[in-house]
Amino acid sequence: MINASYPSKRLRRLRSSTWIRNLVEENNVYITDLIWPVFVIDGKNKCESIASMPNVNRYSIDLLVKEVISAHALGIPAIALFPVTPSEKKTADGRESYNPDNLMCRAIKAIKDAVPDIGIITDVALDPYTSHGHDGLIENGEILNDPTVEILCKQALTQAQAGADIIAPSDMMDGRIGAIRATLDKNSQSNVTILSYAAKYASSFYGPFRDAVQSSGCLNGDKKTYQMNPANSDEAMHEVALDLQEGADMIMIKPGMPYLDIITRVKDEYKVPTFAYHVSGEYAMLRAACDNGWLDYDAAIMETMVSFKRAGANGVLTYAAIDLAKALQN
Ligand code: PBG
Repeated sequence: MINASYPSKRLRRLRSSTWIRNLVEENNVYITDLIWPVFVIDGKNKCESIASMPNVNRYSIDLLVKEVISAHALGIPAIALFPVTPSEKKTADGRESYNPDNLMCRAIKAIKDAVPDIGIITDVALDPYTSHGHDGLIENGEILNDPTVEILCKQALTQAQAGADIIAPSDMMDGRIGAIRATLDKNSQSNVTILSYAAKYASSFYGPFRDAVQSSGCLNGDKKTYQMNPANSDEAMHEVALDLQEGADMIMIKPGMPYLDIITRVKDEYKVPTFAYHVSGEYAMLRAACDNGWLDYDAAIMETMVSFKRAGANGVLTYAAIDLAKALQN
């Protein structure tokens, strides 16, 4: 309630020095809010840069383990793993996705062995494994829902058995959360958590990620028949409601900054743990402007993170997690 007005009320009093600004600050970014997405490649002692994502690398498992040890030492609570499947292992049905000895499962085991206390979040979707780059099976140009869900269940179970803590389905097939929950529970994996990419939009901001996992070259068409229309907001509420009913423990909204309104609506309505994905294209835009000297990287990335917290997010997946953690430690 506003109980005074100018000149007796002067809002600038509370902005007059650093200490008072700190005292009345409403939102904070903590290292424990940060989830670091990482790309893993086959081989040994390999570190590859990604042209469209400056300062982000793909690592072979041995080097990735070292990076995760450092991330853990900085206080980062969890990583999100994305595999780059060698092209000769990509097939139309994406069967490499549930091979218990695939790159993802080997990475999970190696990281769990070396850093048992960091959370491992794994992506469930077929696009890193399909020759056509889609997140599901295709028949006559149509992405098949229910047959895809069956494969996603196998993929999720394989990841859980390898030691994943949090299964994060990013495929946007209908009914997959309930099916994955039932599969995990039936197979003694009831402690494994589900973070649903519940409201994932068919966005133009994923381009650099597709370069990073080398799926852009093979993708025919777009993902508009399964990812959401950026124009819709009520539909996001519907997606989240269904995923919660089906057993999702946590919800993700993706992309991040263009969808802050969705984060706020979801958090206000459902009051469940809600995460934002500051995606590859958002990171690339910011990085490119900073590399040109047009923006200050540290300030701009921190302001971005605080905007997620202000919107209601519990935490953020961001490629800048290491930079942010270092800045926050100082
Ligand atoms: C695909 C997937 C995508 C991202 C995460 N998982 C891209 C897509 O849907 O094509 C994008 C992440 C990013 O852009 O940082 N299952």
